[in-house]
Amino acid sequence: MKSLEDLARLRDEVRERMKVREGARAVRITVGMGTCGIAAGARDVMATLLDELAKRGLTDVTVTQTGCAGLCEYEPLVEVARPGQPKVTYSYVTPEKMRQIVAQHVVNGQIIGEWVLAAR
Ligand code: FES
Repeated sequence: MKSLEDLARLRDEVRERMKVREGARAVRITVGMGTCGIAAGARDVMATLLDELAKRGLTDVTVTQTGCAGLCEYEPLVEVARPGQPKVTYSYVTPEKMRQIVAQHVVNGQIIGEWVLAAR
């Protein structure tokens, strides 16, 4: 039987590990798939994103889609939310840009400033 102190230490260790894991799993990528996004090529961007994540074996990224954000002229729009960094919205995303966003921003945390529409 473990002492209360042992149990408390174990609890703290597990909590710490959970925090690390939650942090590591918290990258969220949202692709605008409204009519305007799709018309501008968002389907290809989404397909490329999923392909790039699979190729890199990145299973700790959540990909979601959203409707029109009212910024049709900037589509395709992709938002990257990485823990500890502002949420970044990229505009005019192409499949090629999508691959680079995964490599630089998602993997290495380097925001590609020249493609950013908004960061908050
Ligand atoms: S599809 Fe209507 S505002 Fe974008």
